[in-house]
Amino acid sequence: MTLQTEVDKRRTFAIISHPDAGKTTITEQLLLYSGAIRQAGTVKGKKSGKFAKSDWMEIEQKRGISVTSSVMQVDYDGHQINIVDTPGHEDFSEDTYRTLMAVDAAVMVIDTAKGIEPQTKKLFQVCAMRGIPIFTFMNKLDRDGREAIDLVGELEEVLGIDAYPMNWPMGMGKNLLGLYDIHNKRIELNLSEESEDDSIVSVDDDGQALGDHDFKESTIYSQALEEVELLSEAGNDFDAEAIASGQLTPVFFGSALTGFGVQTFLDAFVDFSPAPGPVETRDPERVVDPLEEKLTGFIFKIQANMDPRHRDRIAFVRICSGSFEEGMEVNVERTNKKIRLNNTTRFMADSRENVKAAVAGDIIGLYDTGNFQIGDTIYSGKEAVSFKALPQFTPELFMKVSPKNVMKQKSFHKGMEQLVQEGAIQLYKTWHTEEYILGAVGQLQFEVFQARLLNEYNSEVTMEAMGRKMARWIKEDDLDPKMSSSRNLLCKDRFGQPVFLFENQFALNWFAGKYPDVTLDSLLETE
Ligand code: G4P
Repeated sequence: MTLQTEVDKRRTFAIISHPDAGKTTITEQLLLYSGAIRQAGTVKGKKSGKFAKSDWMEIEQKRGISVTSSVMQVDYDGHQINIVDTPGHEDFSEDTYRTLMAVDAAVMVIDTAKGIEPQTKKLFQVCAMRGIPIFTFMNKLDRDGREAIDLVGELEEVLGIDAYPMNWPMGMGKNLLGLYDIHNKRIELNLSEESEDDSIVSVDDDGQALGDHDFKESTIYSQALEEVELLSEAGNDFDAEAIASGQLTPVFFGSALTGFGVQTFLDAFVDFSPAPGPVETRDPERVVDPLEEKLTGFIFKIQANMDPRHRDRIAFVRICSGSFEEGMEVNVERTNKKIRLNNTTRFMADSRENVKAAVAGDIIGLYDTGNFQIGDTIYSGKEAVSFKALPQFTPELFMKVSPKNVMKQKSFHKGMEQLVQEGAIQLYKTWHTEEYILGAVGQLQFEVFQARLLNEYNSEVTMEAMGRKMARWIKEDDLDPKMSSSRNLLCKDRFGQPVFLFENQFALNWFAGKYPDVTLDSLLETE
């Protein structure tokens, strides 16, 4: 098969959601529909939806698939789908954001009872910054939730993205009659598992069900039709280009738990989500086309083994062009070192084919003994390639840190410098006294930092939590040291730039009011 055919089949995406919205359940559904778990003989019919936990774990072991693993690759409807995990909950970290730099689209799962929740909003903003398409799945329709019209309105009001409902719920919870499929001009009925009827029903020009179905008496049906009518008059138009550029999110309703609406969603997703596209480089500036023959890629995440007996790490590479073959030699742009890529298969979530080959759009995990850093470009061939730097994200949590043993300053500084450079954590110093302050977007980063400093650099540290702060950068010309107070601590970042750590929004507003001419910048607005 040609590189073009292979690349065109790729769909690389992440699921962004707040914990408990249903990311795991919808991932399981995708594995189910893709057949990845049918082979193990667990599927009792497409509607079974959820399988027993024990079954699931057995399958994970047999097939080497893990829902908690970093990358999953499955076939769906002639496409090769790569799902890249975005760690959430207590695992939330800068890695979660950086993972979004390695995908071509995002699926945003929202709990219909809750609407947009904080973590979803933060992750959305990172995707919006990249302009990647965002597909919305309004989940848990089998339960009573908020009105559909409210939920769609919230996308526009809270996230500022235009929305286009691809389908519309007819009732919800116990009264879920089905979905009015606006895009495919049909109805999808929510039938009981025992029902032998066809769940797909055609409609006439007025939206009335054809065949034996007559919903004229149903208030749920007529209300849904009225709303659909209203949407077609007052809502956004369908626009595939606007979807591709992330300006418009197609919205789907359904239930990941029962599987209702999931296949319709997946079918539309593979149709409208993009295959891998060109990626920009710096110095010289150009774009790397995915079909260029030479392999290029960048490292967006390094997973350190937390087990002190193994010091190996896994570097995750997003392939941007060409194809990868086991054993090939690549250059690391930063160090100019040549490295032979063996040992890549071990870390792939899908052990079935043992990933001897991969193409643009795929993610591979490289066994790393310290050759790679986050943001590194790798390339084959003679022409050096350097992808643009990954963005930095505004930290929200801060800790004071110092070495426990003052005699071991050297290893502390070395470890600190390397981990900061690698992107594991961010480093600040108080402006005058130069005390070390660490910044992170999730608690886990501090724990990983502490453990790695001990395991890899033999340096024990004392950490003192400072809590949540709002970091805002100011121009050095605007700086007057008098501006610093206990509620807005003046620090410098690792490049020496002044940054204030504000205690809260109130302190920030107060400062902005007092110094109206000073511009306060966050690297990236994630609040
Ligand atoms: P997450 O990965 O986004 O954190 O969410 P996950 O899929 O684990 O789902 C969180 C909870 O919501 C689970 O229930 C799951 O069964 C439930 N859930 C997911 N999708 C749906 C849906 O479409 N409808 C309904 N009613 N529930 C849904 P749990 O009780 O916390 O876990 P479990 O005991 O069922 O595993």
